[in-house]
Amino acid sequence: MRRFAMTMALILVLAVAGCGDDRRAERLAAAGPNPSLDALLNVADADAGARKFAVCAGCHKATKGSPDMGGPNLYGVYGRPMAQQSARYSYTAALLDARGRWDARTLDAWMAHPQRVVPGTKMIYPGVSDPLDRADIIAFLKRQAD
Ligand code: HEC
Repeated sequence: MRRFAMTMALILVLAVAGCGDDRRAERLAAAGPNPSLDALLNVADADAGARKFAVCAGCHKATKGSPDMGGPNLYGVYGRPMAQQSARYSYTAALLDARGRWDARTLDAWMAHPQRVVPGTKMIYPGVSDPLDRADIIAFLKRQAD
């Protein structure tokens, strides 16, 4: 009986984890083996990205008209040149000099290892290691724009 109860509890935990995981297994299966960034973006989910943006939200807002925090507001950042997001924000010289543009590729690399994309940036963040999580956050950021 006790074992039955434990098994049921385990099934419940797995079911809840499965729901919270935004159809991860299905989406990864659809993206195919060793998926490229484009393949992951095809199955990316902006709503899942909105939830995963929680790991960024300690330093960034991503809603229109919101103030900068530790980092600049990211509303509309997708497609913009680097370090031109906020006129009031004091960017590092490193990011000002980077002269890149925020697209899926640069955002993906940045979220994985900010310091590797722009050495000397003050975005001190260990990085989002999971490629599907990064793709979901990119889909969310793309949506947070006019
Ligand atoms: C601990 C605080 C912190 C966290 C967490 C953080 N950032 Fe940042 N972010 C910063 C800072 C500070 C900068 C400004 C960097 C500079 O000037 O060198 C920045 C800059 C950026 C920029 C460049 C904006 C521009 O105008 O060019 C992007 C894009 C960005 N962050 C995305 C993210 C995303 C996506 C996450 C979550 C995965 C995240 N950040 C998590 C602090 C943070």
